[in-house]
Amino acid sequence: MAGPAPEMIELAKLMMTRAYAPYSRFSVGAVLRGANGKLYGGCNVENAAYPVGCCAEASAISAMIADGEQRIAEVLVMASGAKPVTPCGACRQKLNEFATEGTMVHLADSAGKFRTMKLADLLPLSFGPSNLGK
Ligand code: THU
Repeated sequence: MAGPAPEMIELAKLMMTRAYAPYSRFSVGAVLRGANGKLYGGCNVENAAYPVGCCAEASAISAMIADGEQRIAEVLVMASGAKPVTPCGACRQKLNEFATEGTMVHLADSAGKFRTMKLADLLPLSFGPSNLGK
């Protein structure tokens, strides 16, 4: 499977530098390619009240929706660490709202290692808009 385009990687790296993660020290960058072809970046934004923090994927989704795009064509999530980061369960569900089973999700570390998989492999038997007739 084809890897993420260089411009997606660059934006994910930039997003990692913008992360506000003083508690976990785990900076995450997420980039969505909308169906319109535009890239939307997000980073994690932590809070002293820990559960109130926001994941990078959620930030990127907010940027996309605020721009008027509601369809995700491709996803890249990047963090530093020994192995490519995987989206948390809640973020898999959030991505599922605006993507399809076949949407490609690139999981990357900041050193350039990545793996690519379909959203359906990250969130099998998902519950989504179609379950509610949408
Ligand atoms: N984090 C994300 O931003 N995305 C994920 O999918 C996994 C976890 C963030 C949340 C928190 O700020 C830090 O990583 C450690 O959990």
